[in-house]
Amino acid sequence: MIVGIEGFEDAGVYRITDEIAIVQTVDFFTPVVDDPYWFGQIAAANALSDIYAMGAVPKTALNIVGFSPRLYDIAILKEILRGGIEKVAEARASLLGGHSVDDEEMKYGLCVTGIVHPDRILRNVGAVPGDVLIITKPLGTGILNTAIKGDMVNEESVKNLIRVMATLNDKPAQVMCSLRTHAATDVTGFGLVGHLSEMLGKQVGVELYIERLPYFEEVVTLSPSGFVPAGLFRNQDYYADRVLGEAEGFRKDILFDPQTSGGLIIALHPDDLTAFEREASRLGFPFWVIGRFKEEPKGKIEIAAAP
Ligand code: CO
Ligand code: CO
Repeated sequence: MIVGIEGFEDAGVYRITDEIAIVQTVDFFTPVVDDPYWFGQIAAANALSDIYAMGAVPKTALNIVGFSPRLYDIAILKEILRGGIEKVAEARASLLGGHSVDDEEMKYGLCVTGIVHPDRILRNVGAVPGDVLIITKPLGTGILNTAIKGDMVNEESVKNLIRVMATLNDKPAQVMCSLRTHAATDVTGFGLVGHLSEMLGKQVGVELYIERLPYFEEVVTLSPSGFVPAGLFRNQDYYADRVLGEAEGFRKDILFDPQTSGGLIIALHPDDLTAFEREASRLGFPFWVIGRFKEEPKGKIEIAAAP
């Protein structure tokens, strides 16, 4: 065993040979959107993300399904599975099977196995002072998902949100693995500050360029209207002491907002930023430089102005 349940790593890692380690993760949740096909896509992209976050490549997947055929039309389940299967195929992994249980509360997700060279595993710890901090998806999915349930978001915004949540983290992972990346993880339930805190451990600190954080523009109006998920407050209670300096309004909310199928956060050697930029534009994915790791204060996220 190389990476086990200690720490807050994205997936477990087990060495098979000197060249191959398997990376395993499981993730499933209740519907985040009304459309079953897109729910399947998002749940699959979210589960696959932990494999990418470890610097690995997904190879096989198993469906995990909770569904009640007494309560819902079986056509709904077919659509969820179709979305998941297409996402697994896009990730060039093989779906080998799965398991379903009769469950009145619908759930879907995947158990995924990937492979990685044992020397090339990317953990969430290992960032070096001077590294730049990169994020690859905008923040605010928790706020938008809450507002959707309150019918406060128009169709165009919903479509854009779904598109972002269903996007695989494969391309950013491919680029980070080809460069001097020291640490990486994906942003999910604990929000940016939570996952960034795990990345810092007690080894390094980071200055966070609050004005550079990417977000869905809808959060600017939704957050002051109170459309924030309960998880945001839980994250804030738990991680607020990690943050030094002041953040206000929606910018404070997106720090703690729990993300569904969020982007990667990456600690990259500063001299490789130009190469990262070039590769990102070649492969066609967005990214934002949102901070820089520092020696001190260890374990803390300092709100700062961009240089
Ligand atoms: Co993760
Ligand atoms: Co996970």
